[in-house]
Amino acid sequence: MTIEFSKEKLDKVAEIIARYPQGKQKSALLPVLHLAQDEFNGWLDTPVMDYVASLLSIEPIEVYEVATFYSMYNLKPVGKFLFEVCHTGPCMINGSDYIIDYIKEKLNIKVGETTTDGLFTLKTVECLGACGYAPLMQLGKHYREHLTKEKVDSIIEECRLKSGQLN
Ligand code: FES
Repeated sequence: MTIEFSKEKLDKVAEIIARYPQGKQKSALLPVLHLAQDEFNGWLDTPVMDYVASLLSIEPIEVYEVATFYSMYNLKPVGKFLFEVCHTGPCMINGSDYIIDYIKEKLNIKVGETTTDGLFTLKTVECLGACGYAPLMQLGKHYREHLTKEKVDSIIEECRLKSGQLN
């Protein structure tokens, strides 16, 4: 697979780099990694990170350091639907452990794994900054709040419907 952004994405990268003073293009790393993750199947393979390094004229190790630090970057393939469940204190007090266990049981995967049909990946993440809605998870660009087993069931069903694989 050729690792190269579309013309449209390259224009976006140039626009992001232009937000920072000349010579400080490394500051564009986080948003450019998000673009790369969106563009290349939802995760950052090493050649993708190397490509980002070349675009920003920085060393690959500088990209690896950042990509491995933040949980929002995926370093291995993920399913079509990524459940990022918060397991920090306030969410834990409000039952995130039970929600995580329920998702594991329901999807028959462990944390960090993807279902065999490639639909779901379960990750645990640190505080999502919405503790008042605990327990919660991020799914795509949205938060799913005050999770219960019933809500998890309906989220899974909704995802299966979206993918045309409701059974
Ligand atoms: Fe879960 Fe803050 S602890 S959102």
